[in-house]
Amino acid sequence: MLRFGLPILLILFTTSSASAQTPDEAAQRCTRRISNVLGVGYRASLISLMGGTPQSKVRSWLESRDAIATFGGFINSRFNPQPGANLAEEGIPSAVRFIMSNKKPWKQLFTGRFTINHTNNIIMEDAAAPALGYFGSRGWQYRYLGNAPDGLLLSAAYRTMQNTIGLKLVPSAANGEGDATATGRERPECRGCHFDSPYGLDLVARLLPRKVGVGGAAKPQLVAVTPQTLFNGLQVRDHEHLLEVLTSSEAFRFRTCRLAFEFVYGRPESACEAPMFDRCMEAFSRTGMVQDALASYLEDPQYCEAVP
Ligand code: HEC
Repeated sequence: MLRFGLPILLILFTTSSASAQTPDEAAQRCTRRISNVLGVGYRASLISLMGGTPQSKVRSWLESRDAIATFGGFINSRFNPQPGANLAEEGIPSAVRFIMSNKKPWKQLFTGRFTINHTNNIIMEDAAAPALGYFGSRGWQYRYLGNAPDGLLLSAAYRTMQNTIGLKLVPSAANGEGDATATGRERPECRGCHFDSPYGLDLVARLLPRKVGVGGAAKPQLVAVTPQTLFNGLQVRDHEHLLEVLTSSEAFRFRTCRLAFEFVYGRPESACEAPMFDRCMEAFSRTGMVQDALASYLEDPQYCEAVP
């Protein structure tokens, strides 16, 4: 793909007339575009070109601390509807940094064995930790304890699926009305989302820790769980298995390529961009690295051809 970088810049140069740009200008524009997206310094990026094309530098720019922090901030904003209440609830950017800077497969963000220190968000690999990625952290579980009267972590169940496979459910204000217990949630107007769906929230929540205690004393607690039938007939054993199933799915790869697209282009993809999207799916399916998902867009010759 990189091979095409320079010839395309030259074609731009030779075919445009009055507003002709030198290849240098095109390279500058491309560098500016990529460095803006990644949040890496423009001048430093230009200097780092050293005769190469901007798109040949994408991989090394993606490794920079700044690019990882920018992507971590973006992911955080897409995974959480609101800012966390305190530092402990803001573990996701650190977790993204841990995954990307250690070149781990993206799914380990959700299935890795690590702990997040709740006083400083420092992450430690821990073979004894459950394979739950940041979902296993105390900060995240507190954040999504929710208010269900029976202590089911329905909010956490929803976030788990929203984060990993991009599930989107929009409860109406009326959904909060009446009996909010598990019995209440079995009413016809509730069961569609809570029970009778491949992603039934109550069923997923049964695999998660439970909320015990009230008010300031409320906390997540591990409980014995029974397997649940989810995702069109699959028996899901427990919390770890749930995350393994979610992150092994096509929906997970789709979600990741959509996120990467939105990060790179600043908007969701459209139908006519399917070929580009397919290249991301192919690259990401092959290696499982989010860097490859991002690079599939940023290294595409089209990316710097298009006048912003
Ligand atoms: C369109 C899908 C949908 C329908 C229909 C729906 N819910 Fe929900 N419900 C959700 C989602 C999504 C959440 C998680 C929201 C969040 O906290 O992000 C949720 C969460 C809840 C919670 C937990 C709230 C918390 O703060 O912990 C209760 C209780 C609840 N729903 C009750 C009901 C009841 C009762 C009905 C029927 C009257 C209903 N829901 C219908 C999608 C739905």
